Amino acid sequence: MNEIADSYLNMEANEEAFCSIWADRIRFYKDVSLFINRKLPSDYFYNRLNLCKAEISCEVLRKAEYLFFMSNMNCYAYVHEENADIQRRLIRAGYIWIDTMDVMTLSREPDLDYTNKANTDAPVFKVKNVDIPSWVRTLCESFEMLEMQTEIKQRVERHFDKLILLISYVCSGLSHPQPGGCCALFINHGIIGLYCLGTIPKFRGKGIARKMVASGLQYAFNYDLDYLLLQTFESQDLFSFYSKFGFKLAYKKRVFEKKYQNGLKL
Ligand SMILES: CC(C)(COP(=O)(O)OP(=O)(O)OC[C@H]1O[C@@H](n2cnc3c(N)ncnc32)[C@H](O)[C@@H]1OP(=O)(O)O)[C@@H](O)C(=O)NCCC(=O)NCCS
Repeated sequence: MNEIADSYLNMEANEEAFCSIWADRIRFYKDVSLFINRKLPSDYFYNRLNLCKAEISCEVLRKAEYLFFMSNMNCYAYVHEENADIQRRLIRAGYIWIDTMDVMTLSREPDLDYTNKANTDAPVFKVKNVDIPSWVRTLCESFEMLEMQTEIKQRVERHFDKLILLISYVCSGLSHPQPGGCCALFINHGIIGLYCLGTIPKFRGKGIARKMVASGLQYAFNYDLDYLLLQTFESQDLFSFYSKFGFKLAYKKRVFEKKYQNGLKL
């Protein structure tokens, strides 16, 4: 039981540490962290109040909301799916359940054979400082958020030493190799997380994401870590995609939203 609890806390800590690269972390109350990035206001991966490790009173919740609302932003709260009490409290406070995050893990398995399927000529490289703009552009094209490039580039440059960034270059049928896909690996709390997995639309369906996952697993192996961690929103409908690679559900978190309220006072 303790092992399960420890691994849950470490997975949560990995995700929180990753979020703190992309948003400012406010250690808000006891074990509760709040992440906010006013330049990425609609992104609820990075803007959130994490209630997965601790509970808070209605009064403290209102203070958290205030921090979002004073930036003209909606407030997003994450709760473990099985924590019914806090979900009821959020609903009473005017929150709506808008999405669910699946937290998944892929263990090292010697019989995972990616090479047969990944036959597109798209080698994967570890990004060097000079390649940061290409990686950022690939990420922003894959997630269709080109308007966020400047902010993301600044964050990546600032935290480059904490990340392992991978990029794949498509060679087949092109006169010169072009970036096709990307991901970020993040090692923290004894866990390696796979984040930012994306393939540029015109290169999808060629096995690029599969190669990225295989590379991530190779890093887990090289660092002697037990599994690769990732999070995916059910609204993205990628559960079957990740299941194909052998990812298994570890736990679910519900995402609640309270819409920005003008004129809210504490
Ligand atoms: C999801 C995404 C990364 C897939 O990239 P890709 O390079 O096209 O994926 P691959 O070609 O490696 O596909 C691997 C396998 O998954 C399948 N697959 C691809 N996209 C899928 C989807 N959306 N749902 C279910 N299966 C999918 C492929 O058919 C393939 O299966 P096969 O090996 O049995 O033929 C890409 O669609 C993307 O960038 N989406 C937008 C960003 C995003 O949502 N990233 C994930 C964040 S959690």
